[in-house]
Amino acid sequence: MMVTGSDLLAKRPFGSTRFEVPAIAIGCAPLGDMPSTFAYSVSEEDAFATIRTALASPFNYLDTAAWYGNGESERRIGVVLRELGGLPADAFLQTKIGSGPGENGKRNYSGETIKRRFNRSLDLLGVERFDMVFLHDPEHATNEAIFGSGGAIETLQDFQSQGLITHLGVAGGPIDMEIRYVETGIFDAVITHNRYTLLNRVADPLLTIASKRKLAVLNAAPYGSGILAKGPAAYPRYAYGQADESQLTRARQLEEIAGRYGVPLGAAALQFSLRDSRITATIVGMSRPERIAQTQALAEHHIPDAAWEELLAVPYDMTEPE
Ligand SMILES: NC(=O)c1ccc[n+]([C@@H]2O[C@H](COP(=O)([O-])OP(=O)(O)OC[C@H]3O[C@@H](n4cnc5c(N)ncnc54)[C@H](OP(=O)(O)O)[C@@H]3O)[C@@H](O)[C@H]2O)c1
Repeated sequence: MMVTGSDLLAKRPFGSTRFEVPAIAIGCAPLGDMPSTFAYSVSEEDAFATIRTALASPFNYLDTAAWYGNGESERRIGVVLRELGGLPADAFLQTKIGSGPGENGKRNYSGETIKRRFNRSLDLLGVERFDMVFLHDPEHATNEAIFGSGGAIETLQDFQSQGLITHLGVAGGPIDMEIRYVETGIFDAVITHNRYTLLNRVADPLLTIASKRKLAVLNAAPYGSGILAKGPAAYPRYAYGQADESQLTRARQLEEIAGRYGVPLGAAALQFSLRDSRITATIVGMSRPERIAQTQALAEHHIPDAAWEELLAVPYDMTEPE
């Protein structure tokens, strides 16, 4: 089913929970200042201004993680939340807890690490509890570390039973793994990223399975980390690495088609996600305050059916991004 017209930006039920959320969440990974991931730096001032503008906008839904800039994204959000006297009543905040740096460059998902990270997130953000916490990128962990006694899940569920977390979700990469996690029945929400865009749709079965099970389904990185917003000439990267020749060719093709109809490439990329009724919210990364109004304009830009027909005829990957 497709969401159309003014419904594209209407609030949507957050899976089977009591919450409703904006159709667009602000992805705060770039705000953690991670030049090795995004290939540019983000100043504190830009981050503060982006968070302030987001919280005063219809997109007052923030997605962050303990991992982003090793706490820097959460710290910057926390500075603004303190300035505002706490999270505004109608805003929604979610974070993700996963590994800490381990020995020998390996990530560490032990219960102790999860506890430390969770408490650090509460401190940095200056909140007492969370409505939504995601287990972050479990593809980097062993099954035992996640599901074993005293492991990541048990630790997060302990926080849940203490009332410090309302709902648990899973956020990660490989779609087979995400489906396995969704099918455990433990989670109320799932985040997929860079896998349901104009260039890659390997997440398609996950969206169907998770939405049928009434989880909240969050599609992150609709621009493939930037190429589908800034264009392949300005930002020739997909999913945090150099885009390959095929991705670049198809991104140029998409840009050319959109351009012929007077449609910004970003509008097509964003609405491709927004109009899918299986998706609860689309998480868009940004690091400047003017992006909020731009995002609204991209979401509202009229895209004729003939343009969609041509855009959707461009081949897309059904394999995991590199
Ligand atoms: N494992 C996980 O759970 C996971 C993984 C990936 C992502 N995520 C979440 O999803 C969010 C989105 O992913 P992402 O940030 O990697 O990728 P994205 O949303 O596909 O793209 C973000 C990039 O698009 C640019 N952009 C946004 N709006 C724009 C506009 N109107 N005009 C031009 N450029 C624009 C941003 O540039 P500027 O910085 O210049 O504004 C940024 O470089 C993340 O921030 C994170 O919160 C979660």
